[in-house]
Amino acid sequence: MEFTIVSPAPESADCLVLPVLDEKLPAQGKELDIASGGILSQAIRDGELAAKAASVICLGLPAGLQFKRVILVQLGKEPDHKVIRDSTRALAKALIASQNLTACIALSSAGHKKQDQQFLAQEVVNALMLEVYRFDQFKSDAAPAPKLELVSLLAPKKGDIDDVEAGLVYGLALGHGMNLTRDLGNLPPNVCTPDYLAATAQHLAHTYDFSCHVLEQEELETLKMGSFLSVAKGSIVPPKFIVMEYRNADKKQKPVALVGKGITFDSGGISLKPGEGMDEMKYDMCGAATVLGVFRAVAELDLKINLVGIIPACENMPNGNAVKPGDIVTSMSGQTIEILNTDAEGRLILCDALTYVQRFEPAVVIDIATLTGACIIALGHLTSGLYANDDELAQDLLAASQQTDDKAWRMPLFDEYQEQLKSNFADMANIGGRPAGSITAAAFLSRFTKDVKWAHLDIAGTAWKSGATKGATGRPVPLLLQYLSKL
Ligand code: BES
Ligand code: MN
Ligand code: ZN
Repeated sequence: MEFTIVSPAPESADCLVLPVLDEKLPAQGKELDIASGGILSQAIRDGELAAKAASVICLGLPAGLQFKRVILVQLGKEPDHKVIRDSTRALAKALIASQNLTACIALSSAGHKKQDQQFLAQEVVNALMLEVYRFDQFKSDAAPAPKLELVSLLAPKKGDIDDVEAGLVYGLALGHGMNLTRDLGNLPPNVCTPDYLAATAQHLAHTYDFSCHVLEQEELETLKMGSFLSVAKGSIVPPKFIVMEYRNADKKQKPVALVGKGITFDSGGISLKPGEGMDEMKYDMCGAATVLGVFRAVAELDLKINLVGIIPACENMPNGNAVKPGDIVTSMSGQTIEILNTDAEGRLILCDALTYVQRFEPAVVIDIATLTGACIIALGHLTSGLYANDDELAQDLLAASQQTDDKAWRMPLFDEYQEQLKSNFADMANIGGRPAGSITAAAFLSRFTKDVKWAHLDIAGTAWKSGATKGATGRPVPLLLQYLSKL
């Protein structure tokens, strides 16, 4: 699928998409309406296009006209960002479903503010990219891919072209990033191994000319990452510790660091999970996939920032060498951990990564992890859990969340929760009991980030969908890309 920007409309296309404000056909549709004998205005007048915002209809046109069909999209009286998002999603669905090869999408000139054209273009491009996404590489009889080859974005005025261009560039980068994150999540765990994540990082680094090092088992032993290695040792698949450095701002500017949980399969280890739905634990590397997706988008946008990405990657498996409940391990920080449940492994790999990342003297550290089932109980599949030891960082992330509708909600990290992590035999236990399970996991991580501004996103409920439409969502790439692009 290719995009171009046009003003005025092209000679011809299979489909023209027109925004309708309440009952008002936009200027770009007037000529066509007359040429078609009033088909468009008729449909609006007759209420075929519902008054409810984000309604769409597809109308066939008589032969011989510039376009074969028209899709009308209802924006209502005063479209806000939510209406625009819902409408672009609906129009993307309709456009793909009506089997067009080429389409021209007229951007609304409703709000005359600069931001609006950029926002509109960005949302249209992103919605289309997410809609055409398929993950069928393992199917012998995959349904044919959507045919849409060329999409022309019709700027209302010549003067809008720069804004539309900016929106197109951002929407493309975001779409590429999210779809990479989705691909990595959806890949089966016998393909998407720690080594595969490392190869993906190396490939990105090579393509976009940033640096990437992968630390192997022996180096991790030298670094004394006893906590991370204790999780990895129950599997015959070797762990990888991925370090990416994107430097595109002044050397003196401290980097933002992203740390992503990269458990490529979480069986639970010796504290084995129940069998039902265990396949979904291939998604336990979605934090890592998010970091890679964000790097892809940031590099494509050539953002003038310094960014460090860290991914501890391994499997959590129960072989004869596996860590056992009761084992005590020493983390890279020197703090000892009594492992009471081997299924609480995410925090065990993250704590060493959070210690390691501080050698980059980051301005802030943000970790992203499918960390707890308890977070799904608290916030469902709509909202990611946000934790932070710094109010400003939390506010900035929440603002980015609101701007992108990539929902997140701040959760408490009161000191009292630390009580639940007491161990009889070590500095701490790796579990804190059933109450406040998402919070105690974050409280565990906070013990390793005392010297740095840190936030944690628990994406257990939001990184993928279960059921008939099972698949990775690409979240929270929109939130993080927004945050980074506003630095
Ligand atoms: N990867 C899981 C968390 C998870 C579970 C994410 C279900 C999405 C859906 C994590 O490693 C885990 O197993 N957490 C345990 C912690 C418990 C043992 C304290 C959990 O949430 O049950
Ligand atoms: Mn687990
Ligand atoms: Zn896990």
